[in-house]
Amino acid sequence: MGFSTDAIHVGQEPDPLTGSVVAPIYQTSTYVMESLDKGKGYDYARTTHPNRKALERTVAKLEGGKAAYVFTSGMAAIDAVFRLLRPGDHTVLPKAIYGGTFRLASKLLVEFGLEFSYVDTSYLGEVERAIQPSTKMIYVETPSNPTMIVTDLAAVAALARSRNLTFAVDNTFLSPYFQQPIALGAHIVIHSMTKYLNGHSDCIGGAVVLARPEDAEKLYFLQRSAGAGLAPMDCFLISRGIKTLAVRMDRHNSNGMAIAQFLEAHPKVKRVLYPGLSSHPQHEIARRQQRGFGAMITFDLGSLDAARTLLNHVHLCSLAESLGGVETLISHPASMTHSSMPPEVRKENGITDGMVRVSVGIEDVEDLIADLDQALARV
Ligand SMILES: Cc1ncc(COP(=O)(O)O)c(C=O)c1O
Repeated sequence: MGFSTDAIHVGQEPDPLTGSVVAPIYQTSTYVMESLDKGKGYDYARTTHPNRKALERTVAKLEGGKAAYVFTSGMAAIDAVFRLLRPGDHTVLPKAIYGGTFRLASKLLVEFGLEFSYVDTSYLGEVERAIQPSTKMIYVETPSNPTMIVTDLAAVAALARSRNLTFAVDNTFLSPYFQQPIALGAHIVIHSMTKYLNGHSDCIGGAVVLARPEDAEKLYFLQRSAGAGLAPMDCFLISRGIKTLAVRMDRHNSNGMAIAQFLEAHPKVKRVLYPGLSSHPQHEIARRQQRGFGAMITFDLGSLDAARTLLNHVHLCSLAESLGGVETLISHPASMTHSSMPPEVRKENGITDGMVRVSVGIEDVEDLIADLDQALARV
């Protein structure tokens, strides 16, 4: 079946008991047993529950994985992936990465003996040079948050394969509608489902999709042992959101391209980072490995003052953390999503104080352009 059909139907079969077209929310912590040796497949909601199983089936199908496990947040999902490693194991991470992932790796996981090197993953040579005898994983985020660096997934997958390393990809910015890392050779795909998969900014969730059954078994053990599996109501909301993923992403994509072109032509804007523009350094790779360019755009106004003026004068765009919802959100990476990166690391990674990040929603694009235009006039 096609992507949209799978998004609407896989895991979302009508309820066999009542015929309800939409699966009910199983808001229960525990399940009664018929006898000591017999139940109906569920025992305790930390382990799993019908809404979680349904969502996991959908996400695994859309990413082309063997299995998926859903967690209370994107960060809980990422934490679970790193727990596949052991003390002393080394991971190659991108320099340009979501601030929360950087904080988890550099401040928390190092305390438990995991080791990390940070490189520009758009240069295969840099990734290769960072590999050590203790390296077990290469982890990338593409396009990266907020610098929109694109990594060649097939090339890194081939490198990982040749060195017998696990290859994990954070696919949050594009969703499986625009990019399917497993088809390009990744072993693990991660999502902050808080973003496009849910799409309505009304709950937090994360997913890990596994291409290898042995990883799936370990992840399920981690999920039920550590207890960070996603709750029924949140699974229900994300399952509902996924049904419209394809139509939302098409609109995000066309709005994203229109706004990127508007910004690139504006005299107050110094630089626009959007993989759909031919000026983007990895535009050709993005064209090759993505089915669309998405709706995340970062642009530089040259100074903190200019960025502050713009952010304080938008009306329709909401000044807020997060991304991937139907409404347009605008943010200042240096002081918001990436504030946990020390200033010198931000500088090295090209995250300037004049940078503004937009998560373009699915409103009428003329209204968004008018809002940005009037705010830019104040800069
Ligand atoms: C690329 C990326 N990965 C992971 C996360 C973390 O997800 P969550 O906020 O759901 O924990 C985020 C959050 O912004 C993100 O942008």
